Amino acid sequence: MSNTIDTPLEILGGISAEVFLRDYWQKKPLLIRQAIPDFVSPLDGNDLAGLSLEDMVESRIVLEHGETPWQLKHGPFDDETYNTLPERDWTLLVQAVDQFSPDVAEVLEHFKFLPNWRIDDVMISFAVPGGSVGPHYDNYDVFLLQAEGQRQWKIGQMCDNESLLLKHPDLRILDSFEQTDEWTLEPGDMLYLPPRLAHWGIAQTDCMTWSVGFRAPSTAEVVTHYADFVARFLPDEQRYSDAGMSPVSNPSYIRTEDIQRLRALLNEQLNDDRMLLTWFGQYMTEPRYPDLLVGSELSTEELIQSLEDGALFTRNPTARLAWSHIQLDQESAVVFFVSGNSRILSEHLVVLLDLVCCADALHLDNLQAWFSDAEAMTLLCELIKQGSLESLDE
Ligand code: SIN
Ligand code: CO
Repeated sequence: MSNTIDTPLEILGGISAEVFLRDYWQKKPLLIRQAIPDFVSPLDGNDLAGLSLEDMVESRIVLEHGETPWQLKHGPFDDETYNTLPERDWTLLVQAVDQFSPDVAEVLEHFKFLPNWRIDDVMISFAVPGGSVGPHYDNYDVFLLQAEGQRQWKIGQMCDNESLLLKHPDLRILDSFEQTDEWTLEPGDMLYLPPRLAHWGIAQTDCMTWSVGFRAPSTAEVVTHYADFVARFLPDEQRYSDAGMSPVSNPSYIRTEDIQRLRALLNEQLNDDRMLLTWFGQYMTEPRYPDLLVGSELSTEELIQSLEDGALFTRNPTARLAWSHIQLDQESAVVFFVSGNSRILSEHLVVLLDLVCCADALHLDNLQAWFSDAEAMTLLCELIKQGSLESLDE
């Protein structure tokens, strides 16, 4: 990308991260003109169509006037698909392009004022004039960056699970759209939308939009997945127990004290912060495409040698990394989450974790100080073996 900006202040149109998070995030939309001034997309519609031919890549085409209204086609596509598309009113959408293009992944650098484990992907759409996926709402926050051409964005009402939808087997298109505002976005402009706000983007010219989408587990997911996780550590012998209960006067009646015992059982199991952190870190770092994590075995000596020979290691864009402090019995430590797994590490490795999670590249200069630290070197070798770190010349 020709124009990297380091501070959120710029990508947020002069608003500080604090003000954005206080006044807009999850609350209301924000239009930011020239969030990335003179933005030049590193890929065009043909590159995106090329990606949609690949098996690994999730892609869709929405045709407003197809064989049925709002026809949805799923990729992978072939050349024939593109030869038969009409001149107007269709959109190609490709999911998680950041996983396949380092140039696209670079845009995520602008969002470092938000936790990286909240970021889902960069979805890119290419549309011809009139192309749109219809008025709809999403359950997640999104930053819509206009990358090429012009798109008109209309925003509308706040929706919920009772909002009426058109009858459609796959798409969730709103039955009614109560427009409150509209803007035409030019390359470099960006629109932030909070979850559940109705929106409708219509291409004015051939146009490309990058959607930086965020992930938040639904409450139902949190409850079911966390309960499953906790249950894995509980033996069958551990059960609801009512030792010392008072005699019942009506054998069919469930008393308050019975429910209180149940509440105590749940509280005991669900209130463990360390367990909660472990589950959350693992869950939020699960990679989207685990098959793209391919590592290679390397001993500490081989790693040192390769760094001395000038090797550079970078994070695999598929890897999801996060960490936190954790209190063990006597001492504090850190827990490092790597693509759905976790491991406890000594606290002094925080500086190394920061490097692994944030540095542009790992090389002799920034790793040499760790060569004599066995725990640090083992960690680095494991990250390489597991595919989270990869050599730049691989
Ligand atoms: C699009 O890029 O066409 C649709 C993105 C969205 O509305 O979420
Ligand atoms: Co949307």
